[in-house]
Amino acid sequence: MRLRNILIIDDELSIRETLSGVLKDENYKVWTAHNEVETLRVLSQEDIHVVFLDILMKPVDGIELLKRIKERYSKVIVIMMSGHGTIETAVQATKLGAYHFIEKPLSLEKILVILENAFQSKELEEENERLRLEKYQNVDLIGRSQAISKIREFIKMVAPTNSWVLISGENGTGKEMVARNLHHLSLRFHREFVAVNCAAIPENLIESELFGYEKGAFTGAYSQKKGKFDLADGGTLFLDEIGDMSLHTQSKVLRILQEQKFERVGGTKTIEVDVRVIAATNKDLKKEIGEGRFREDLYYRLNVIPFHIPPLRERKEDIKPLAHFFLSEIALENNKGNIKITDRAYERLYQYDWPGNIRELRNLIERFAIMSQTETIDVEGVVLPTERFQSGNFSSDFRSARENFEKKFIEEKLKEFNGNISKTAQSIGVERSHLHRKIKQYEIKVD
Ligand SMILES: Nc1ncnc2c1ncn2[C@@H]1O[C@H](COP(=O)(O)OP(=O)(O)OP(=O)(O)O)[C@@H](O)[C@H]1O
Ligand SMILES: [Mg+2]
Repeated sequence: MRLRNILIIDDELSIRETLSGVLKDENYKVWTAHNEVETLRVLSQEDIHVVFLDILMKPVDGIELLKRIKERYSKVIVIMMSGHGTIETAVQATKLGAYHFIEKPLSLEKILVILENAFQSKELEEENERLRLEKYQNVDLIGRSQAISKIREFIKMVAPTNSWVLISGENGTGKEMVARNLHHLSLRFHREFVAVNCAAIPENLIESELFGYEKGAFTGAYSQKKGKFDLADGGTLFLDEIGDMSLHTQSKVLRILQEQKFERVGGTKTIEVDVRVIAATNKDLKKEIGEGRFREDLYYRLNVIPFHIPPLRERKEDIKPLAHFFLSEIALENNKGNIKITDRAYERLYQYDWPGNIRELRNLIERFAIMSQTETIDVEGVVLPTERFQSGNFSSDFRSARENFEKKFIEEKLKEFNGNISKTAQSIGVERSHLHRKIKQYEIKVD
């Protein structure tokens, strides 16, 4: 598919008209907007690939708007236009993620060249993303704990059935990975796996996101758009972060899950779909129900087969094989030789409680590997985040809370540098004598 959707944002009508005229002649699909509201509306409804954005606009100027666009639509390519381009604004725009900067009066020839380049790099990016996802889908679960063997067995057993699954587990434990594996090993593997992050969809857009809309359903609905349920027809719909939906959205979702049919926004035709739903949450839904934040009927609808993924700290045997796996991936990506972790360094990894689970492990291993000067990661290279505070650890007044924190922090840092006071002081940016005083004050043992 060629990517050709363009949005022109300028408060000057003549610019919008001329530019869109030229681009349409070149067979691009063009939308225009003259302010922020229009811009965000078009972006939320259309699959825009490239944006031309004027810098001098009121009341919200182009740089501010660039920020807002990039916040929500990080993948859209933005080309800034300005009559009074200064180097500083161009630099600022580039830092904020603008792809290019062109000066008015616009040279149409130049625009077409920039646009072709932009689309080419975008296609390349999408191709990479697709390959990455494909790889992700085919990756087997790594680990040798009993827990992970159980997960593998579970996937093998449940995947070929059409049963709905509710996966629970802390952040980064591999919920999405399990869901993708379930899809991959199911009879639906040749159809789509459609992931919906329930927490990220604004409440007023939930219906058009999930059900799609018909052309003309509201101003700006220039063409029909399929919703996630449509896209997942015959395949798997992954409802992620299900515990973060508002009660209102929950009731809408429940209705469609029960009926498996719906109408598009602005449409009259009833559409029937066949989707298998896999939901995931990092919350304790029973508790959420008890506190009135989650609908019990929705819970029972989704919870046909419950499945819990234990946190990494309860299956520390998996740390080593996972670290191995991540290291080999990093070596491959960076053309590096194989990096090793010493046994002493592993000991430190086992002691840590991994609040961010496997995602955290992956990020940390990557950081260690990049920071490491040699091909071996030893204890000094294993710099772990300071232990998180349990809420019970906080004292009631500010001063003792701070002291409590300082003490923990210094203890942790000293451990990191094997009790070497000079190195610790240097690393945390205080004088050696100051650190000594603190050690004495808090009666910290240095060994
Ligand atoms: N058993 C495993 N083997 C290999 N990689 C894993 C395993 N489990 C998780 N990962 C990797 O860890 C990262 C986090 O996994 P995933 O996104 O599936 O977690 P999640 O539970 O959905 O997290 P969140 O709650 O933050 O959305 C991914 O990069 C994934 O590839
Ligand atoms: Mg996830």
